[in-house]
Amino acid sequence: MTNEIAIHIKDLHKSYNGFTAVQSLNFTVRKGEIFSLLGPNGAGKSTTISMLSCLLAPTSGDALLLGHSISKTPRAVKEVIGVVPQEIAVYDDLSARQNLIFWGRMYGLKGKQLARRVDEVLDLVALTDRQHDRAGHYSGGMQRRLNIGIALLHEPQIVIMDEPTVGIDPQSRRKILDGVKELNARGVTVLYTTHYMEEAQELSHRIAIMDHGRIIGEGTHSELIRIVGGLIRISLTLRQSPGNLIEMWRALASVHSVSEENGAISLLVKDSTSILPVVFESTARAGISVTGMDVQEPDLEAVFLHLTGKALRD
Ligand SMILES: Nc1ncnc2c1ncn2[C@@H]1O[C@H](COP(=O)(O)OP(=O)(O)O)[C@@H](O)[C@H]1O
Ligand SMILES: [Mg+2]
Repeated sequence: MTNEIAIHIKDLHKSYNGFTAVQSLNFTVRKGEIFSLLGPNGAGKSTTISMLSCLLAPTSGDALLLGHSISKTPRAVKEVIGVVPQEIAVYDDLSARQNLIFWGRMYGLKGKQLARRVDEVLDLVALTDRQHDRAGHYSGGMQRRLNIGIALLHEPQIVIMDEPTVGIDPQSRRKILDGVKELNARGVTVLYTTHYMEEAQELSHRIAIMDHGRIIGEGTHSELIRIVGGLIRISLTLRQSPGNLIEMWRALASVHSVSEENGAISLLVKDSTSILPVVFESTARAGISVTGMDVQEPDLEAVFLHLTGKALRD
């Protein structure tokens, strides 16, 4: 990841006849980042995505995608982005391959280059095996994956996905999440929206929590979690007896408590980032091997509750 900015949102605002759907939105997504907008239904995620995709004009404000303004140069924006809208749009009568060829031609691809991209995209969305079957016979998850494939054909540098896993089977969901990671590993910047905190947590470098058209919290998962001031639990299993390490850890300022039960040690800490190195250093010095470690953090649901007083799943 670099410090270069891929998406710069500046005071973006959308009202419908006096109702504000998106209000004074400001955030930046860095190149190479997976950035999630996490929020319940009606938070304003799709409205934001529609504006960034140049499908909906903002009431005020602007956004720059790789430096191109959505209000001034929408055509340049469309060339650098691939958008997966919330509603599936594929041709039922065509196979996956035919759908991709159709859309590839719309993007100006042809010949060998088109065939190569279609093969790559089918592989990425895991539809190679079923590429010749009619899309109308696919499950919702497969149709969704085809829709994602269409958005990737022109090798966009930024991919924007609006709740791509809603209402689909777990296998397709898994394939989509893995596909997002693979895309990102190839250097693609991803803006992802979801109301599933587990997805935001698993995928994102940074997350913006959205509610009633506003961003109410933003940061890495651990930064957001710190908002609740919750304690983090580190579970450790050691090959040898911990000896006086327990007492030593207990005396550290950011350690709340240490428990040991049947060889399983739990540390409740305020900040795992600073404690983990200390734990590893002290076990190494004592010649004790760590055979297992797990860090359990309070979740984003707790953060949302803390910020809004309501559950994310309402
Ligand atoms: N065309 C429209 N006219 C009036 N209100 C709208 C329109 N589109 C969306 N809204 C309202 O804007 C708010 C945000 O909607 P949306 O962006 O779809 O939220 P999300 O995608 O987070 O569920 C909702 O209250 C919704 O009812
Ligand atoms: Mg939506």
